Parts: sequence; C-alpha cells; structure tokens
Amino acid sequence: MHETTAYLRERFTPAPGVILILGSGLGGMADEIVDPVAIPYEQVPGFPRSTVVGHAGRLVAGIVNGVEVVAMQGRFHLYEGWDPSVVALPIRALAALGAGALVVSNAAGGLRPGFQAGDLMLISDHLNLMGKNPLVGPVAVGEERFPDMTAPYDAEFRKIAADVAQEEQIPLQEGVYAAVLGPSYETPAEIRMLRLLGADAVGMSTVPEVIVARALGLRVLGISLISNLAAGISPVPLSHAEVMEAGARVQEPFGRLIRKLLPRIASTNLASEA
Ligand code: HPA
Repeated sequence: MHETTAYLRERFTPAPGVILILGSGLGGMADEIVDPVAIPYEQVPGFPRSTVVGHAGRLVAGIVNGVEVVAMQGRFHLYEGWDPSVVALPIRALAALGAGALVVSNAAGGLRPGFQAGDLMLISDHLNLMGKNPLVGPVAVGEERFPDMTAPYDAEFRKIAADVAQEEQIPLQEGVYAAVLGPSYETPAEIRMLRLLGADAVGMSTVPEVIVARALGLRVLGISLISNLAAGISPVPLSHAEVMEAGARVQEPFGRLIRKLLPRIASTNLASEA
C-alpha cells in the first residue's frame, strides 16, 4: 500500500481530488481527461491485472472541466478471485494521495418495473449481498472499525447530480443497487428475491469500493447504467456484449452529466467525517 501510494504520488501532480471509477462500457469518459497521465495497472506496484473484456485496466489522472481527477478505467472484481483487499487497494492508495470524493459508476441489470436498458440510475443506497466485506481483518490506518453506513451515498452529491440531470435534460432514475458476487448472472428466481429485498438494480461491483471509501471518510456519488433488464424480466438471455453495447449508447449523456457535476461536487467540502 505504501509502495503504491509513493509510486502514484511521484507521477500524479497535483494530487487528484476526485476518484472516478468508470464501469463496464463507460471507460470512454477517460478520453475527455485533459493533460492525461495514464498508467496501466500492471505497472502500478501492488496492482494486479484486470481480466474482464472491455476493461482497459489503467489509471488516468488529469483535468475534467477544471477539476483534478483520477479515473480508473477498469476495476478489480471479487468474481475474478481477488481478495477484497485488492479491490480496496486503489481507493486506499488514492485517498492517501489526498482524494476526498469518489464518483463510482457501474453497469447493472434493471429490476424495477419501468426501467429500460440505457437508463441511468443514481444510487440512493445499496444491499451488500456479496458475502464479503473489504474491512474484514485488522483496522487499516485512518479507517474506522465500525463505519456508519446510514448514508453511504452523499445527499448533497445526489442533489447536485439530480440538478445537473434536470438542467441537461438527461433522464436520471434513482434507486437501490444490490451487489452480488457473480460472475454468473442471476436466475429469474433470484431476481424475484432481489425485488422482494428492495433492490432496483443488480450488479457485481461498487459496494466494496464504497465501503472502503466511507471507512476513510470520502464522500460518494454512485451511478448505475441499466445495461439490460434482469433475468426473467428481459425477453432475451443476458450477455456481456449487451452490457457493453448499452454503455456505448449512453456514453455521451453520461459524460455530459459527469463533466458538469464535477466542479460542483469539487466546490463542496470534499472529505466529510466517516
Ligand atoms: N446482473 C448482474 N450484474 C450485471 C447485470 C445483471 O443483469 N448487468 C450488468 N451487470
């Protein structure tokens, strides 16, 4: 972790204030970064390689709309077999550099009636159904043993995102994200169960990073791309190709939303009490 931080501190100057995790199909946003410094994951000490098709696997630091950001193009998933501490490492290292906010995106299956493939959903809350928690083990420096999770997704950030979406006329749903381990997609019976539990969307990422970010006191904004309707709701079998294709379709409004909201979240007091 120290080695990772030291390596990134040398290369990312000034230190990025906002971490941007770009989900499946949404990695194109990194092309908008001005004065980019890009580092493939395999060059970063402590980072393993990302294994999913469609994830480039690199950090790109630079400026978006006047804000110093670092984008993760591709992320580490528990279903790849990584230990939760590996999934948490980029957040811990970038927070140690000084980042105070996390803007996290993902692709997810839509459960709520009325959702359509290509919708964007502001994450209001989550269900951790992965059976794992990245904070298990000794308490890491600067983290809490028992972080409060009453409001993992920052209310002020959500208001900013909703305001920007309205100004830009970008339809933005809001709902609960359920995280499962994967990598198989759900059965129709599992989707019926998730609906009973209160989920609006289901995916295989995000929650570990958000838990670590909250333990460190970072403020979090989460956005799901509803890339497909969930199993049993969708009339067709699910495929990763469908997920990537939906990402390509919303790339433009997603990019516009993020670009416009960044200066507004950066002008708030970034790191809050965990
Ligand atoms: N289920 C789980 N994860 C996903 C899905 C899904 O339907 N779509 C994209 N990621």
